[in-house]
Amino acid sequence: MNPQVIGKPLPRVDGRAKVTGAARYAAEFNQPNQTYAVIVSSTIGLGRITAIDATASERLPGVLAIISHLNAPRLPYNPHKAGIDPPDGERLHVFQDDAVRFYGQPVALVVADTLDRAERAASALRITYEAQQPIVDPRDKQAQRISPAAYGRLEADTGRGDADAAFESSPVTVDMTTDIGRQNHHPMEPHAAIAAWTGDRLTLWSKSQFVANEQAEIAAIFGIARENVQVICPFVGGAFGTSLRTWSHVTLGAMAARRIGRPVKLVLTRRQMSFTTGHRPRTLQRVAIGATRDGSLTSIIHEGTAETSRFEQFVEALTSCTDFMYSCPNVRTSYRLVPLDTGTPTYMRGPGESSGMYALETALDELAHKLGMDPIELRRRNEPKIDEGANKPFSSRSLMPCYDLGAERFGWSKRTPEPRSMRDGRLLIGMGTATATYPALQFPASARARLRADGTAEIEAAASDMGPGTYTSMTQVAAETLGIPVDRVSFSLGRSDFPPAPPHGGSQTMAAVGSAIRAACLAVQDQLIERAAANPRSPAHNIGKDALEWVGGTLRRKGIATSGQSYAEIVAAAGGVPVEATVNVSRDPEAADKYSMHAFGAVFVEISVDPDLGLARVRRALGVYSAGRIVNPRLARSQCLGGMIGGIGMALMEHTALDPRDGRPVNAHMAEYLLPVNLDIPHLDVAFVDEVDPHVNPLGAKGLGEISLVGMAPAIANAVFHATGRRIHELPIRIEHLLGL
Ligand code: MOS
Repeated sequence: MNPQVIGKPLPRVDGRAKVTGAARYAAEFNQPNQTYAVIVSSTIGLGRITAIDATASERLPGVLAIISHLNAPRLPYNPHKAGIDPPDGERLHVFQDDAVRFYGQPVALVVADTLDRAERAASALRITYEAQQPIVDPRDKQAQRISPAAYGRLEADTGRGDADAAFESSPVTVDMTTDIGRQNHHPMEPHAAIAAWTGDRLTLWSKSQFVANEQAEIAAIFGIARENVQVICPFVGGAFGTSLRTWSHVTLGAMAARRIGRPVKLVLTRRQMSFTTGHRPRTLQRVAIGATRDGSLTSIIHEGTAETSRFEQFVEALTSCTDFMYSCPNVRTSYRLVPLDTGTPTYMRGPGESSGMYALETALDELAHKLGMDPIELRRRNEPKIDEGANKPFSSRSLMPCYDLGAERFGWSKRTPEPRSMRDGRLLIGMGTATATYPALQFPASARARLRADGTAEIEAAASDMGPGTYTSMTQVAAETLGIPVDRVSFSLGRSDFPPAPPHGGSQTMAAVGSAIRAACLAVQDQLIERAAANPRSPAHNIGKDALEWVGGTLRRKGIATSGQSYAEIVAAAGGVPVEATVNVSRDPEAADKYSMHAFGAVFVEISVDPDLGLARVRRALGVYSAGRIVNPRLARSQCLGGMIGGIGMALMEHTALDPRDGRPVNAHMAEYLLPVNLDIPHLDVAFVDEVDPHVNPLGAKGLGEISLVGMAPAIANAVFHATGRRIHELPIRIEHLLGL
């Protein structure tokens, strides 16, 4: 029998390694003769370096090199753009000129034989600047709004019908603006790289969600062959998007290691992670919705503006959900960027969607309030039959089943509709709901499967596991496909010399890498059949493939239990040489063309607000998701809990505040960058709606990483409105928003 391990709540195969410390993260791959580098960050927000006085630093013990634009090698920076890179602009060319483009930009690097000595020498460096006033606020009068360069399927402007005219003539309207502050990812593991050169070959033990691209990018920056760069990253201690791109510290580490001819370790400080490794861009949005009195949407206008850096146009799907979310004949979306004197923003869990859906879903909640209609009922009335933006059917869409299951499980019927109508003692109680969605992506991916003479399988892909449990879920996919127990499968990831995988982002690792692993395992089985067929002593000899079947890792004639030959037997009979297949898999282009593919979810939140202190606290929350096949419900639940907690952070706590004078993050540390801790995380509940989607990929998996953050912030804001009658248009919602209730 096939073990049927897909769908089972297996514990993590790497759990023991993680809790015992056997799992090694980038900074733990210490090398013989290793040295330590410390980045000196700019203390101005814009301008030019006029002098670097290293006299005092150079005299300190243990100092091996002080590198800056004054003495750094001119690097080729050959053109290189991956799909995750901003479509327009050029990455920071580190130490190539005297310009300071944003606060915290690396301006010098000190290398010493110990970390303490490197830090001491770094602090003794005297750098003088010619400072200009940076613009770091997208509302600044001098800031420009630009249309981003076209990016893939997403367009800066989309629409159907005449949304503006329809809005003007709608009997019921809502017109809202929102301001979502900058956030930083702040995963537990800091960015880190250990760089070591052997001749012209570079090895990087580097925190990365995308080792294949890190290899290609560093090769391009240094103008060396791709094969001469090896990136190794078996474990990632959380990332949420901040390790998708290869930031400048990796280049600096490699530059320093080459300069001194010894391995260099470079770990960013928590503070440096506030300005050099991307952030969720601040967004300003307007959502205007028109409806008939019975709640049919007549117009949706969504204008989104996001900050970017002056040297790169970071783009994300800020307004794109609005195009297909609800049935509406007149829709107009626009997406603009405001280049600022800041580091380039990057993807942060639910990138674009979470900010965009915040605006759409809070506006919809306001509309429900104006109509005197239950917010779930409003969504039900406008549930589309197809993706009206793309004019295609959905491959599957189970939004209403999510709402139905969620409303029941959450006890939505106990909610009294009137704002401020629910109390618990002196606390105001609010219940809010919102829709979550995320596209079911699948980029091309490859994987290698190897069946060994002992009947065990080795699987390899240059994938990453930043926490969702990729090691475990991929082991399940291989075990299921091969029909063997999971303990006979070993899966390795995180090496750039493994078959390339797409970025470990966009919630596509299961769809992309999982599909590749499945295909590689099937290809191995085919090869085994060929070997068996060629062997006169095999039951499969001279029997067509169609008359054979694999049952529990045994090849047999269909229905004939006694005719079996195990993997080990087939491999042994052919001289014990392992059977290996490397396969590259893309989504079926026909299905991709025909269907609109998205995961959906419904989120429910109950909060309390202290009317005297203005404190909003989530009391309980439920996320119900339909994301196709759930490969491992235990991991999936854990994923969703993490995303929901991220949503609590986005709604109520997380904010990187900038000093307008120089763009300095004023809370670039964990004491004042607020994140939800245990006391902020109440009872969280997760449920899945079973969904069979044959179109997305043979595994039927849509992906689950990002969607669980997407609906949380609007559900919380809607609950705050329900509790207080106050619609807060800014995130995070803070005490000052809720005073004087
Ligand atoms: Mo996710 S923001 O694509 O790591």
